[in-house]
Amino acid sequence: MGKDHSQAAKELPPEPFEAGQSRVGETLLAGAPLPRHVAIIMDGNGRWARDRGLARIDGHHEGAKSVRKVVRAARAIGIEALTLYAFSEQNWDRPPDEVEALMELLYRYVLEERAEIMDNEIRLTAIGELDRLPQFVREPLDQLMADSADNDEMILCLALSYGGREDLAASMRAIARKVQTGEIQPTRVDERMITEHLSTSYLPPVDLLIRTSGEQRVSNFLLWELAYAELLFVDTMWPDFRKPHLLDAIRAYQQRERRFGRLSAAHAAD
Ligand code: FPP
Repeated sequence: MGKDHSQAAKELPPEPFEAGQSRVGETLLAGAPLPRHVAIIMDGNGRWARDRGLARIDGHHEGAKSVRKVVRAARAIGIEALTLYAFSEQNWDRPPDEVEALMELLYRYVLEERAEIMDNEIRLTAIGELDRLPQFVREPLDQLMADSADNDEMILCLALSYGGREDLAASMRAIARKVQTGEIQPTRVDERMITEHLSTSYLPPVDLLIRTSGEQRVSNFLLWELAYAELLFVDTMWPDFRKPHLLDAIRAYQQRERRFGRLSAAHAAD
């Protein structure tokens, strides 16, 4: 435990990041907008391990390597915000040894990625019931969130002990308290106010949700925020999901027509 940061940085040499420059034109579609905010449900670690005769935790270990690669790729591409569903509110019900192993992986991630996160001007944030995290995770997490708070090249948001319904309920409670004290009138409660009271209020709208492993569910992730997101379900198991898969996903996004409930450009011209 407690690897020194310079060592971690040597193991993970940063790519030649160039601030503000994306790789559009190489493998992405030039001229088509990038998603500002990509959210990922990292699914399939257990099945990846089972298919190889390994323990579930081996799948999570390999999944943590994908986290490193995908964060680095998102930063290089020029994504503004990346939200990763690392641990759901419901994941606490998994066997205690699996929960413990996931917490250990989080702890190591926060320690070992610290140098790369700081060097690349990434702001680390977290959403969810962080009070439920063990202290040995919470401390370095809080520290890195504080230290990286002014970084402005990309936001990496970890959803930890997170549930979309729980977050909506918390937003409603906060608004209800303000109504109770007379700070706001009930008639002023609208979509914007609910959004502003969610834990994700500082993030840009989610443009693209990716779920790996072939499952096609939202699983209590960013329920409100996904209202107009493009949803992409890919068969790749999370431990196999690396930079080329992220590029493919973004290219697929670039080929979609986003209508936000309006007519398509083709119909509008009729
Ligand atoms: C879902 O796979 C994955 C999780 C519940 C945990 C995700 C955690 C990581 C990718 C590693 C640690 C995270 C960080 C940020 C370092 P599953 O176990 O439900 O897979 P299965 O559906 O195949 O069983």
